[in-house]
Amino acid sequence: MSFKQLVQQRRSVRRYLDKEVEREKILTCIEAARLAPSADNVQPWRFLIIDDPELKAKFARNVFSGIYFISKFAIKAPVLIVILARLDIIANRIGKQIQNINFYLIDIGIAGEHIVLQAEELGLGTCWIGWFNSRKARKVLKIPRKYKIVALLSMGYYERKPSREKKRRKLEEIAWFNKLSRD
Ligand SMILES: Cc1cc2nc3c(=O)[nH]c(=O)nc-3n(C[C@H](O)[C@H](O)[C@H](O)COP(=O)(O)O)c2cc1C
Repeated sequence: MSFKQLVQQRRSVRRYLDKEVEREKILTCIEAARLAPSADNVQPWRFLIIDDPELKAKFARNVFSGIYFISKFAIKAPVLIVILARLDIIANRIGKQIQNINFYLIDIGIAGEHIVLQAEELGLGTCWIGWFNSRKARKVLKIPRKYKIVALLSMGYYERKPSREKKRRKLEEIAWFNKLSRD
């Protein structure tokens, strides 16, 4: 599959088969994240992979309750990956102070999407989840304060992708050569 085909066919998958995901495949995805670029090569990402059904059920019960119920689809995902950032890295703080950009969020986004794309190639569906109770996630998993919980990724085999087309802005609405157009 070409890279172009890969990105064209990737969709957020919210329905999963009740089928275990091989750890080898999960680790292939994490390896793709490990190789991602990062500002000053600080590699701030850490990944806590939840594939134990009991722990996953407890975690999901907690983090997708109340106002977070719309992310409940992820309860049925065979794997949940908690994406963490190490915040005690000096380069992160300097970047924020001087450039006013949280570089670690860019780094985490790139690494997370490497996971997503590698998973797609392996026939696994994923969905980024930003809407969850991170306070409860920290509590259930006993995650120390030096880590920021940035997002979750659900992962699993799927039967069908969402059939509706990708809704995207047109190319000419988002990119210009040499001069900004009216947006
Ligand atoms: C940072 C981020 C956070 C997201 N959070 C959620 C979420 O909490 N729940 C959800 O169902 N989808 C979530 N999504 C998935 C988006 O809704 C999805 O990528 C977008 O609608 C485009 O659809 P597609 O991924 O199928 O192309 C998130 C995506 C990103 C990149």
